[in-house]
Amino acid sequence: MRLDKYLCDMGAGTRSQVKQKIRKGLVTLEGEKVTRPECQVNPGQTVLVEGVPFIYTELEYYMLNKPAGCVSARTDGQCRTVLDLIVSKKRKDLFPVGRLDKDTEGLLLITNDGKLAHRLLSPRHHVDKTYEAKIQGRVTEEHVKRFREGLDIGEERLTLPALLEILSSGEISRIRVTIQEGKYHQIKRMFHAAGCEVLYLKRLSMGSLTLDESLQPGEYRPLTEEELAELQNERKGEMDAV
Ligand code: URA
Repeated sequence: MRLDKYLCDMGAGTRSQVKQKIRKGLVTLEGEKVTRPECQVNPGQTVLVEGVPFIYTELEYYMLNKPAGCVSARTDGQCRTVLDLIVSKKRKDLFPVGRLDKDTEGLLLITNDGKLAHRLLSPRHHVDKTYEAKIQGRVTEEHVKRFREGLDIGEERLTLPALLEILSSGEISRIRVTIQEGKYHQIKRMFHAAGCEVLYLKRLSMGSLTLDESLQPGEYRPLTEEELAELQNERKGEMDAV
């Protein structure tokens, strides 16, 4: 790969800023000063800009505990985005895998691995997503049955079977719910169809990936090798058995 592209990909500056630095002799490759932006470099080689190493990273994976109040988008004219929170990112092509509503908290995978994202999001793969929520209204066994049988949320078909667990039931109920789809506002629409409203929503897991509860809202960390390996081996969800 060209040296200027390598450094630009790794966030050393814009293409023209990087070219300038190279031409000024501020960049070394394997300890030798290089002044040609088109010079070829391999990912394993040592590149320093003004003495600071830039290690090539092709794919990045972060687990974010999304806070309420920021949007699941790459950019937004007005609002803070989930990518603004990933301050240590190297790549500029990261994106959130799926969307959580602005007021939803919890697990969000941020990566630039398009293949993995496609597999996790594809409706064909039915990857389980588990949420916990506070619900306005008394959630009962009748709701559990309706969630299992599928609800009419105004789509062509009923929702796929969902596993609703009641943690506490009262004027405000606490529940956990696992769905196999990812339709727009799906949980809120399911509860609305069942006569209740969601007051608070947090995603706990997506497939094999579980939110690290030591992450406070707004905090993130890279995925561990085990987490990544499990996600990459992700099979069809287990919800078909519900
Ligand atoms: N369902 C919703 O209603 N909102 C989310 O953010 C995620 C799932």
